[in-house]
This record gives sequence, structure tokens and C-alpha cells, in this order.
Amino acid sequence: MPVIVLCSTKGGVGKSTTALILAQVFSAAAKDVTLIDADPNQPLATWAKRFAATVPANLHVIGGVNEETIVDTIDGAAAKHPFVIVDLEGSANVTATYAIGRADLVLIPMRGKQLDADQAGRVVALIERESKAYRRAIDYRVVFSMTSTLLSRESKHIRGTLAEKGIPVLEAGLPERAAYSAMFQLGGTIFDLTDADVSKPAAAVADAKQLAMAVVGVLRDQEEKAA
Ligand SMILES: Nc1ncnc2c1ncn2[C@@H]1O[C@H](COP(=O)(O)OP(=O)(O)OP(=O)(O)O)[C@@H](O)[C@H]1O
Ligand SMILES: [Mg+2]
Repeated sequence: MPVIVLCSTKGGVGKSTTALILAQVFSAAAKDVTLIDADPNQPLATWAKRFAATVPANLHVIGGVNEETIVDTIDGAAAKHPFVIVDLEGSANVTATYAIGRADLVLIPMRGKQLDADQAGRVVALIERESKAYRRAIDYRVVFSMTSTLLSRESKHIRGTLAEKGIPVLEAGLPERAAYSAMFQLGGTIFDLTDADVSKPAAAVADAKQLAMAVVGVLRDQEEKAA
């Protein structure tokens, strides 16, 4: 526990990147993390396999998870480890529906574009339907990803629209940084990257920690409300 699910009906918005960064920050903080790769393309399982020697010992990546196995895989991991993170493919499907049904927090990465905002609305609608179906409030946050574009007028407008609709946005976003794509190419974690590998690796670590802190903040608020 808790179970954090990355979901978007749009592809390429930063789900796998966000999932892997959160997993790396939590594991670097000496927490056991299960990272479940439920995307048939297996980006995270491939990362873990290709760079097996550099994967932290307390970061457990489970690949090959599908609609038949997702619920048992999540429940098994949640009983064992303090953090479970689920990465989904970029479409609404049965696997995503089951994963959301098991989530303590759904994160919806979104770039600052109108099309992404419309797609985020679809995920929110799906989560709200599931909340009703299961009679359980499923908590979610939009996460702004690749945030260098967020200074544009379009992005400001989107933030305003989300606020109007009452769609909550995570306090921290994930800026666009070379370190975050390099980890998939070079292997290892963002903590292993040096100035020789990418520009500003320390800033990438600092931003990743901010994101993780924001997620932990939401989970803490949930605990306090439940207490
Ligand atoms: N914050 C970031 N900084 C730099 N590059 C990023 C960032 N986030 C994502 N990318 C890059 O953008 C591309 C898409 O990101 P990612 O694979 O995480 O998206 P996704 O939502 O998981 O996509 P899919 O729907 O295909 O699973 C990748 O090439 C990734 O390296
Ligand atoms: Mg992905």
C-alpha cells in the first residue's frame, strides 16, 4: 500500500516516465516499490531487463501483466510493499479499468495542450464512473508533464478550465528534462546520471523529489481524512 496508477487515454503524455521517476525516488528513500508494467509495449519491464544490473534492489518491476492478472498482481504487491505503482498503456481498456478500481491515487499526466486537456477529462469521467460503481471515492490528480510549455497562454487557459471543472491538479509537475528520457536510453536511475551524461542532472533529481513529495502529500491527506 498505497497503489498509485498512471492513466491517460492519450499516448505519449509521460505516464511511463512519471511512473519510473516516482519509483526511483521512493526506492532511493529506502522504501520497497513494486512497479507494475501493464502496458503491452512493456517500456518499464524492458528498462528493468535491459539494465538489470543497475536497477535498485528494492525496486521490483513486474512485467507481462494483463487484464487477467492485474488485480491479483496489484493486491499481492500492495500486501508486500509500501508503494505500488502501475503503468498503463495510453487507452481506456479493461486493464486500466481494473487498475483504477484498485487505486488509492490515479495520476493523469497531461501536457499543456487543449487536446490533452480533453483527454484528461475522459479519464476523470471514467474514474468518477468507477467511484460510483464501487461506491468508493477514487482520488485522482492531473499532473502537468513536460512543463516547459506551461508558460504559454494555452496552458494558463487549461489550468483555468481544470479549476472551473473542479479537476484537481498535483502541486508539482514534471518539467521536460534530458535526464528523464536518458534513463530509458542509458539505464540506471536519475541518481546515477552525471554532467557527462546529461545537462543538469542535479536539477532533474530535485524536480523528481518535488513531484514525489507532492504525491506523498496527497496520500498523507488521505490518511488524515480517514483517521
Ligand atoms: N519530463 C520529461 N522530460 C523529457 N522527456 C520526457 C518527459 N516525459 C516524457 N518524456 C519523453 O516523451 C516520450 C513519451 O513519454 P512516456 O513514454 O513517458 O509517455 P507515456 O504516456 O507513457 O506514453 P505511452 O502512452 O506510449 O505509454 C518519451 O520519449 C519520453 O522519454
Ligand atoms: Mg507508457
